[in-house]
Amino acid sequence: MAHSTPSRVALPRIWAVTSGKGGAGKSVVALNFALTLCEMGRTVLLVDADENLGKLDVMVGQSPAVRIPDVLSGSADLDAAYIRPFTGLAILAGSSGSLNYPEITDMERLRFIDRIASSASGFTDVVYDTGAGIGSKVVIYAAAADETIVVVNPEPVSVLDAYAVIKLISAKNTGVALNIVMNRSLAPAESDDTAAKLQKAVRHFLSSDVRYLGLVPYDENVGRSVVRQSPLVRAYPSSPAAVAIRTIAQKGLRSSVNYHQQELAIV
Ligand SMILES: Nc1ncnc2c1ncn2[C@@H]1O[C@H](COP(=O)(O)OP(=O)(O)OP(=O)(O)O)[C@@H](O)[C@H]1O
Ligand SMILES: [Mg+2]
Repeated sequence: MAHSTPSRVALPRIWAVTSGKGGAGKSVVALNFALTLCEMGRTVLLVDADENLGKLDVMVGQSPAVRIPDVLSGSADLDAAYIRPFTGLAILAGSSGSLNYPEITDMERLRFIDRIASSASGFTDVVYDTGAGIGSKVVIYAAAADETIVVVNPEPVSVLDAYAVIKLISAKNTGVALNIVMNRSLAPAESDDTAAKLQKAVRHFLSSDVRYLGLVPYDENVGRSVVRQSPLVRAYPSSPAAVAIRTIAQKGLRSSVNYHQQELAIV
């Protein structure tokens, strides 16, 4: 007898890219990570969660008329705010210094995150590019994700900020999987060593595991791509940083799929 398989709506995988320290490379990693997922045939919604300091639209050379504050204030629908700069990719743009950006509470932020998740069934992945800092308006996005990627620069201040943000995310106990990426690496062996030390500290003091997805070298092409308003993996696809971000995205996706399959098997 033939059995009919119950139809299931696959939920998108939610990623948040964060750092603690400002300028660590979150937006560069988030945008190029999202585009790599698209190159792999996935469909991605990239959300500018830097709220009123967002710049993802500028990084892809667009200036959308409708942005997140219009959605938050109720004057626009969520899907009317998507821009689609590349095949497979939609971006929900934030604002930059808008005087009308609504002050939202954490509860409203959580409702917004829920709203995005429930309207994102047409995407395989949602990627949040968060703002800097360790305030709740950053940590809330990271803790609500399936996977958080913490971008770390190989210098002590950035490592300390990364540890602080990992500590706050872990304290939320939401079950988010933690990953680190070393960015702007000038010495691969040293960056790998710094990542290992950070992993060890997180395991020892926070009893959490962090995956190391790899390093992105310091590469002048990154700055050039930002100036050209054309994402690195498109403008300089063979540059060392683009190749590294591709490898990182492939590894991140592979380990996330394995991890969540194991979790399902345990349940
Ligand atoms: N691997 C790299 N090599 C060289 N330059 C880089 C690299 N990564 C980032 N940059 C430079 O650093 C700048 C800041 O990067 P980005 O905007 O991604 O940081 P951010 O963490 O998102 O900053 P913010 O905290 O302001 O949101 C980029 O414009 C780029 O010029
Ligand atoms: Mg940014």
